[in-house]
Parts: sequence; C-alpha cells; structure tokens
Amino acid sequence: MESNRRSWLKQLGLGIAGIGLTQLESVAAPFEKHRILDDSLLNFPVRLNANENPFGPGPKAREALIKNAVVSNRYNLPQAKTLVEKIAEAQSVAAENVLLGAGSTEILDVTGRYAALSKGSLVLGDPTFGFWTETAERLGLKRIKVPLTADKKLDLPAMLKAMTPDTKLVYLCNPNNPTGTLNTRADLEAFITEASKTAMVLIDEAYIEFTNEKSFVGWINSNKNIIVAKTFSKVYGMAGARLGYAIAHKDTIKALSGVQSWPNGNNSIATVAAGLAALTDPTFVKDYVALNEKARTFTYNSLTAIGLKVIPSYTNFLYFSLEGYKKDYYKVLEQNKIMGREIFEQNGKWTRISIGTMAEMEYYVKALG
Ligand SMILES: Cc1ncc(COP(=O)(O)O)c(C=O)c1O
Repeated sequence: MESNRRSWLKQLGLGIAGIGLTQLESVAAPFEKHRILDDSLLNFPVRLNANENPFGPGPKAREALIKNAVVSNRYNLPQAKTLVEKIAEAQSVAAENVLLGAGSTEILDVTGRYAALSKGSLVLGDPTFGFWTETAERLGLKRIKVPLTADKKLDLPAMLKAMTPDTKLVYLCNPNNPTGTLNTRADLEAFITEASKTAMVLIDEAYIEFTNEKSFVGWINSNKNIIVAKTFSKVYGMAGARLGYAIAHKDTIKALSGVQSWPNGNNSIATVAAGLAALTDPTFVKDYVALNEKARTFTYNSLTAIGLKVIPSYTNFLYFSLEGYKKDYYKVLEQNKIMGREIFEQNGKWTRISIGTMAEMEYYVKALG
C-alpha cells in the first residue's frame, strides 16, 4: 500500500519533494490565527490524500514545537519518560504499559517484527491499513488477507476462520482505514477474546477519537496478547512530528521493546514536548472533531447527490465508489491540484478522500461537479 501511495504521489507530480518549503509552511493554518481554527484557507495542492488534520498541530503543541526546536542538541531524556507517564495517566494505565514510537507506524512495525521472530502467519482485513505488513512478511510472517464484508467492515467471523495454528498476529483496524467503518463492540469483544487465546491481537485505534467507541486499553492488564496502537497524528494534528504509542501488558511492552533498538528514543525532543502540550489541549481535539464531522457530512451529502455510492464514515475520510462517475476523476484531481488516492478495490472502483477544511471540501466538490 505504501509503494502504491508513493507511486501515486509521483504520478500526480505532487509528492512531498515537489512541494517547496514555503508551501509546506503554509499547509497548516497560520500561527497567528491559532486561537481560531481557521477553515477558510485554501492551500495548494489541496492535500486530501493522507487523512491529515488540516488545522493542526493545536496551538499548545505548535508553541511547544517551536520553543523546543532550539534544544534539539539534546536527546529526549528525561522528557520522554515524562511523556510516557503523562500518556499512562491519560489512559489510566501504568508507565510500564506504554511504549513510544515515531508515529504509530513504528508501533505496528515493532509488533510485526516481534511476531515475525517466531515466523508463522498474520491475519488482516483487505483492504486495511496494511502497508507495514509487507516488512513483517519479508521477516517471515505469511500474510493472510481476508476480504471485507459487502458493507466494507472487517469480516470478523471470516478472519477467525482464516487463523491457522501458526497464526502469530491478527491486525484489527477499528475504525478501518480506508473504509471508515466500525465493527460493533460486541462483535469485537467476542473476536478478540477468541483470537487472543492463540495469537497476539493488534488493535489500531488511530481514529477512535472521532467516534463514541470505547478503547480496548482497559483489556491489556488481564490479557498479554492484546496490543493497542494509538497516534498523535490524527486528532492532535501531529502527523509530521511523528508520535505514536503502544499500550499493552508490561511483559508485552518489555517484549516489544526488545525489537526497538532504543525504546522510547525515536522521537525528537521538540516532538516529545509537543506531545506533552497536546495532552493539555482537549479543546483543540473537540473543536477539530466537530469541524471534521460538519465537513464530512457536507462531503458525504454532496457525493451522494451526484449519484455516487459512499460508505458512512466514523473518521476523517470517506470511502466511495467511482462507478458511474462521468468524468475522469484523476484528471479532475490533477487539473485542480487536489491530492486524492488511488483505487483500492477495482471491483466497484472504490477510492478514498480525506476530509480537509470546509473550504477545501467545497472546492473539491465543485471540482468534481
Ligand atoms: C489506521 C492507521 N493506523 C496507523 C496510521 C499511522 O499513523 P502514524 O504513523 O502517523 O501514527 C495511520 C495513518 O494514516 C492509519 O490510518
């Protein structure tokens, strides 16, 4: 999936390398406007391809990043230790239950590497956020991909059936990327209880703050086979700062740390400071989630109005079918300097669009029209 993403960026000619520094600086709402979540600005290219928060980082995190850039001559100790403690406090677990990563991708990666130590297989949905599993496969975990249900949810009974005696890891992305769908709590509980009897279950909660769902963090102390991955990239708007973490039983954290060369060491001091600041800024998260919901509803209704099939989403992106779309979608994106995504499923021509500011979504809808 990542290689798809790269070639897709290249294809559009709008990859990161092609964006000048000045443009990158203007990608977030300007600092002087940080007290208001400005949603009227349009920056080009309009980046609707990576489920980024168009407003973030929040004001407090932003200030911490800028202030702490000057102490980048230092390693992140002891600030990383403090961040681990603060995350633990926020998640009602102990510090020994937390492991930091450079984004939650590193947590997924470390989990894959740990599982691959004993070879065997890895079960995941298809499509899902699975690009990190390519590495796990190279290291010895055979991937078993299980197609989603017709309504684009993880097919939990089929995933359970797909498990074999040598399955070491099961990946549950809930809500699922790229589809934005949720499985019910009851179904997830039954699945996790069963699957974790024989394999590790990695629950990716990157988008859980957009929903009213309860985290599975509360399950980790009684079950060593459960790992919850979380990120500062989405609701906290810190994707480029790279901060994520795992929550798991202390023995599991110890085991995962064994395949991370410098446990908790991969985040810059500015990023750690920003993470600490972000945790004290729930207003930013609340405001963003509300603005996202408004822009998502607008986009959902607009795509539906032009006759496209759209999957109801619990996230900051929408999954929809290009079947029946009269124009050349990718030409429209290119001509209007909009970054979107490739087709994830040929059958039905399903693609994904991230939710930006309302102004960006109005621009996108107008371009499609
Ligand atoms: C489901 C899911 N998990 C994890 C990530 C990784 O995010 P990061 O490495 O920025 O924390 C993403 C990013 O889009 C995602 O969609």
